[in-house]
Amino acid sequence: MVKLATLYVCQSCGVSHGKWSGRCESCGGWNSLVEETIDTGPTSTKPRARSKTSRGVAFHDLQSSEPPLPRMQTGIAEFDRVCGGGIVAGSALLIGGDPGIGKSTLLLQAASALAKSGAKVAYVSGEEAIDQVRIRARRLGIADTHVMLATETALGPILDALKHEKPDFVVIDSIQTLWSDALGAAPGTVSQVRACAQELTRFAKKRNCAVALVGHVTKDGQIAGPRVVEHMVDSVLYFEGERGHQFRILRAVKNRFGPTDEIGVFEMSDAGLREVANPSALFLDGREDCATGTAVFAGLEGTRPVLTEIQALVAPAAFGTPRRAVVGWDNSRLAMVLAVLETRCGFSFGGKDVYLNVAGGLKISEPAADLAVAAALVSSALDVVLPPKAVVFGEIALSGDIRPVSRMAARLKEANKLGFTTAIGPVSRNSKETERNFDCTIAKLGKLSDLIDLIDTSESIAARE
Ligand code: TYD
Ligand code: MG
Repeated sequence: MVKLATLYVCQSCGVSHGKWSGRCESCGGWNSLVEETIDTGPTSTKPRARSKTSRGVAFHDLQSSEPPLPRMQTGIAEFDRVCGGGIVAGSALLIGGDPGIGKSTLLLQAASALAKSGAKVAYVSGEEAIDQVRIRARRLGIADTHVMLATETALGPILDALKHEKPDFVVIDSIQTLWSDALGAAPGTVSQVRACAQELTRFAKKRNCAVALVGHVTKDGQIAGPRVVEHMVDSVLYFEGERGHQFRILRAVKNRFGPTDEIGVFEMSDAGLREVANPSALFLDGREDCATGTAVFAGLEGTRPVLTEIQALVAPAAFGTPRRAVVGWDNSRLAMVLAVLETRCGFSFGGKDVYLNVAGGLKISEPAADLAVAAALVSSALDVVLPPKAVVFGEIALSGDIRPVSRMAARLKEANKLGFTTAIGPVSRNSKETERNFDCTIAKLGKLSDLIDLIDTSESIAARE
């Protein structure tokens, strides 16, 4: 017997409540509860009798003689690398991002590339009409590839059609537009998103068809219908970028079949997304070597070394409370670097506004950027340029010590490739060997105060010249 219950489900954390209230008791979100009617299933809860012959679940060995999971390569190297070397057959992917960032464009390009390599591919759009997708395909120059298009938002007919057509890869654009008639809730609500994602993930595993779900991200940075989908799927990729910049970054935040934190860099052009094989050159484009308040950070994004410019401006505060504004880095990390500079090096930023920007719109989360940030800050405060052609990296401890960072050789190799000849970094046990392999001088700093001495000397060298 079908038993319906009315529940109030929080749209930001997914917890259901028995009665409505203005504030979700679980996550504290205001006005996020939405009424949903849910089928609570048969009234009888008596456990099913176990058959006497049943042996329960079957256990297996860890070792297997089966070949590794087959992967489908799109040929778009940046996309394949983020997926861990191609899309695994029968896996479920979630691609999240702000509306208008280019998710549909990316997936249409990937779908078409797979179709070209001989896979059977379907693209189900719940947002755009067939003609709109066709216009986009023409613009991308891929209209001649065989991708099966459909516009539908009801889950039942979509699954029926997919069972019949048996594609290898299907794109669902987007998960928020789908609805299942088994639920009374409106499309886009947490229950609908969760139920549809669950059905599609099950379909992917059962029929060995890779499914890519597009998910729009809410204002506060979560995939709407939020975290509830992330644990179901095999990989979660975020497509990020600044509206004002042409480049976009595809970032793996979860991947059951490959490394996370891997990034792919694309450039949005008139004819769709283009791969950027050398992101460092893109991020450093237009950089002036002799500007004060800038430092080049030799960072790592996943397995990939990427050079970026960190810009700082230290200016007299116009108002009583100085401002600290950060774009592309962590606010509290900046506060920490400022505090260490003040306490351990006697460098005062009181009464000064501090602005920090990662050029190009990249977001950096590595602690290794600490030293580059400190170098940019000191350079701006003293109005002195850093040594020319230098990259900076190193983690700053609260004691003022500079800690070694991982994969120094990869960072130096990238710096070398882009014509940098000096590295300012931490003292490391194997730096001698690294130095021998690369054509650059490493200024090894043990303490943060050494950095200030180094920048001061660079000023005296500049003055002598
Ligand atoms: P879209 O893929 O529709 O974004 P999403 O699916 O994430 O909402 O991309 C839309 C934006 O991309 C739109 O602002 C136009 C731009 N765009 C280009 O600049 N060049 C192109 O070739 C295409 C197809 C889109
Ligand atoms: Mg779209």
